[in-house]
Amino acid sequence: MDFQFTEEQQMMRKLVKDFAKAEIEPFIPNLEADEFPTEIVKKMGELGLMGITVPEEYGGAGMDFVSYISAIHELSKVHATVGVILSVHTSVGTNPILYFGTEEQKERYLKRMAAGELLGAFCLTEPASGSDAGSLKTRAVKKDGGYVLNGSKVFITNGGEADVYIVFAATDPSKGSYGISAFIVDGDTPGLVIGKNEDKMGMHGSRTVQLTFEDMFVPESNLLGEENAGFKIAMANLDVGRIGIAAQALGIAEAALEAATDYAKERVQFGKPIAANQGIGFKIADMATATEASRLLVYRAAQLRAEGKSCAQEASMAKLFASQTAMDNAIEAVQVFGGYGYTKDYPVERYFRDAKVTQIYEGTSEIQRIVISKNLTK
Ligand code: CAA
Repeated sequence: MDFQFTEEQQMMRKLVKDFAKAEIEPFIPNLEADEFPTEIVKKMGELGLMGITVPEEYGGAGMDFVSYISAIHELSKVHATVGVILSVHTSVGTNPILYFGTEEQKERYLKRMAAGELLGAFCLTEPASGSDAGSLKTRAVKKDGGYVLNGSKVFITNGGEADVYIVFAATDPSKGSYGISAFIVDGDTPGLVIGKNEDKMGMHGSRTVQLTFEDMFVPESNLLGEENAGFKIAMANLDVGRIGIAAQALGIAEAALEAATDYAKERVQFGKPIAANQGIGFKIADMATATEASRLLVYRAAQLRAEGKSCAQEASMAKLFASQTAMDNAIEAVQVFGGYGYTKDYPVERYFRDAKVTQIYEGTSEIQRIVISKNLTK
């Protein structure tokens, strides 16, 4: 497999890198104060980043999946929150409509989502249904040309800020995961109640909210795909979503590696830079090796996806390994910085807090192991 970026992919990477430096870096204190980056999202829309892989006929940039993944990678290297906003908007907000929507739904939503005018969110997880996504309890009952939804969701990224929610609800609870349907829900739908925004360890500035549906009416024209075929829509889009989260983890891992390496070269103790001690040098060697392995896994999964090949197992492997690397690198980076690493004066404590969730959302590391082992042993 050829891992060289094409000229077009390189241009996209550079554009995102420059954008992150110019627009996100100065905004980091605001993000850490939990301010949602509304202006940054708007500018990403103007640059075409909110619809990178959406075909041009639907208002997107029509670029390949590797370019999209490299955008999340570069954004997350500067601040992981911006990476997750784009990843959720694209992989599990926009793509379900692109791949499963009717032409009418695409006309109504895709163009504006690709332009960044409408932000997407994905509503699968519930208070009692996290890893066991097929056991969700939100109910959709057919009535008067549509469905009435009742239930609640938790940990909804982009919730409250989003304009379009992809909502999963049971249309036939007797069938378990084979009785779930997907719906496109407008953010201003009566009965959609935005609840608490979680006070999180990291990923500050991103929104993670509870949602309640109180007799929320969704017209039949907003049913996404076939009735009772929603679980497969969720799973198929999570396959792809997981590559995005793996790319986010890769960005954090690289940022932690670079910060630790630079500091180890500058920090002098016992008359020499601490990098000259094998105890530190070996840490950096291990961090760099795991980062390189993550990079290969992430871009291999992305390339498979770009070629339209199945990639569920590779996506899970990439997410499993890159998220572990992000966490390990962040822990070691704090150690290299010593006492300074434990303060908010340096970014490594942020990498430490932000890395953790990459092992949890869009399927925990344990779920990735289930997907990989099921695939190998079926
Ligand atoms: N693509 C298409 N179909 C799939 C699929 C996939 N990747 N995975 C499963 N399916 C299908 C199966 O083929 C099966 O259908 P058939 O019988 O017709 O073949 C059906 O779905 C049921 O499959 P399983 O019996 O394997 O399902 P399960 O109930 O055992 O669950 C699981 C499998 C992998 C554990 C799944 O529940 C899962 O992924 N759980 C984790 C949930 C998750 O990732 N949540 C993330 C929330 S979103 C988020 O975090 C976003 C954010 O805000 C950042």
